[in-house]
Amino acid sequence: MTDRDFFKYFSMLIGALVALAVVLFFLAGAIGGKSKLKNIQSASTDGKQVAERIKPVGEVTVASGNAVLNALIPAANAADGKSVYDKSCMACHAAGVAGAPKFGDKAAWAPRIKQGMDVLYATALKGKGAMPPKGTYAGPDADVKAAVDYMVSHSK
Ligand code: HEC
Repeated sequence: MTDRDFFKYFSMLIGALVALAVVLFFLAGAIGGKSKLKNIQSASTDGKQVAERIKPVGEVTVASGNAVLNALIPAANAADGKSVYDKSCMACHAAGVAGAPKFGDKAAWAPRIKQGMDVLYATALKGKGAMPPKGTYAGPDADVKAAVDYMVSHSK
């Protein structure tokens, strides 16, 4: 084979490869472009698919985790009640200042518990005699109720 022949075949080969590359390029563009377009269309028009795609990952976990949550909530409330008591109620209720029923004093608490928890909650929130509303606690009512629960459960 002469050099000239070699160059002829070689440039034909290059030309064929370039042509093939161009064909593949457009073919890929046509196929890829079409499917991309399809994805975009279904993403924007199919609301159900969108909802499916963006729904929270933990959905199933939360439902089956309810038992665990329910088991934890009373424990959390008890802890809350204690911390609220320690912060806002202890000052009077630990020593029985100004006639406050002492923490753990069953005799002092028995007649008050007899009124029912709703009355105790209400007086703790509104105040009574020397007891200031919410014992001056600044947080939500539920915390004060938790503190009442805590005091009552340790005084009967
Ligand atoms: C400044 C002192 C003081 C603080 C602080 C205080 N208490 Fe009292 N508490 C009293 C006194 C005094 C009484 C008795 C009131 C009476 O029967 O006249 C009382 C009574 C109560 C009663 C019984 C109410 C009833 O109906 O018999 C509850 C329940 C109670 N306090 C809850 C709390 C809780 C919960 C806190 C904290 C968030 C708190 N107290 C903070 C002084 C205080």
